[in-house]
Amino acid sequence: MSLPPILQRLRLPVICAPMFIASNPALVIEQCRAGVVGSFPALNARPKEALDQWLTEIEQALAAHPGAAPFAVNQICHKSNDRLEHDIEVCIRHKVPITITSLRAPNDVIPKIHAYGGIVLHAVISVRHAEKALADGVDGLILVCAGAGGHAGTLSPFALIGEVRRFFDGPIILSGAITTGDAILAAQAAGADLAYIGTRFLATPEASVPERYKKEILRASASDIVYTDLFSGVHGNYLKHSVVAAGFDPLNLPKSDPSKMNFGTAGGAEKKVWRDIWSAGQGVGQIDNVAPAAQAVDKLAAEYLAARRRLLVN
Ligand SMILES: Cc1cc2nc3c(=O)[nH]c(=O)nc-3n(C[C@H](O)[C@H](O)[C@H](O)COP(=O)(O)O)c2cc1C
Repeated sequence: MSLPPILQRLRLPVICAPMFIASNPALVIEQCRAGVVGSFPALNARPKEALDQWLTEIEQALAAHPGAAPFAVNQICHKSNDRLEHDIEVCIRHKVPITITSLRAPNDVIPKIHAYGGIVLHAVISVRHAEKALADGVDGLILVCAGAGGHAGTLSPFALIGEVRRFFDGPIILSGAITTGDAILAAQAAGADLAYIGTRFLATPEASVPERYKKEILRASASDIVYTDLFSGVHGNYLKHSVVAAGFDPLNLPKSDPSKMNFGTAGGAEKKVWRDIWSAGQGVGQIDNVAPAAQAVDKLAAEYLAARRRLLVN
């Protein structure tokens, strides 16, 4: 099956992943102008009335750049997200080109998004979740594999892509520790259509996280990433130093309490977690500088071309 037209006109086969707190209109606009899909979680626009302004700002900026890639908005589909209905309604009104859903596939809104020509990509960590999302009618799957920043799975990308490709020939986007152009090409070689890149874009001036967080991204390597469900009730990857600074022993973390998960307007604790305990994927060890998003995309493009040439030559 070929890719939906909206995903075909990219400079590089890349979707920049939505990141809680970190993604904002400035980052999305620079990502799209650089020719790759930019995205943000709807929840980042606070209060919820700001979402309409964020979308207008992005639409106006991209309209001035006819070659820009489309953008995506991420909806956290969890019962605690009391903004979900509002946020989806605003995005449908704005005809947001790409909707990225996490946790549960929103089967009731998929027809409304399709009605205006939008597509829905759903993030999954297992074959069971992939089958369920496809049954609900999503257009493509984001396979969140081992080593991804944020809430991550544990499966090897080779295992998960291979198993999902047995029953799905539509768009597959691979997530997990992709920080170089070489890895983008590897994702395609393994059977994905596009790469999904988050952590790499934390090390940009546009990302709205503290400078200390960015410095820690530059300093850390894969062995500094801790995988735990303690902080949000869902397993995710975090920078060890921030876990220690928050008073925890990374080798002896207590059990989580999933009933404390709260992604809605009352999600103060959740927000604090992501603000004080910093998430990052295992790709951190290959990020050496804080550079504007446009430069980061240029570097990925150059590496991608070099990797292609290298393989063709050998
Ligand atoms: C700081 C941070 C915040 C994240 N927040 C979200 C989020 O709000 N929604 C979501 O679907 N994924 C979120 N993710 C996961 C990313 O969308 C993506 O799956 C991941 O970053 C890809 O792996 P990588 O970071 O190794 O490139 C987050 C990731 C990071 C690093």
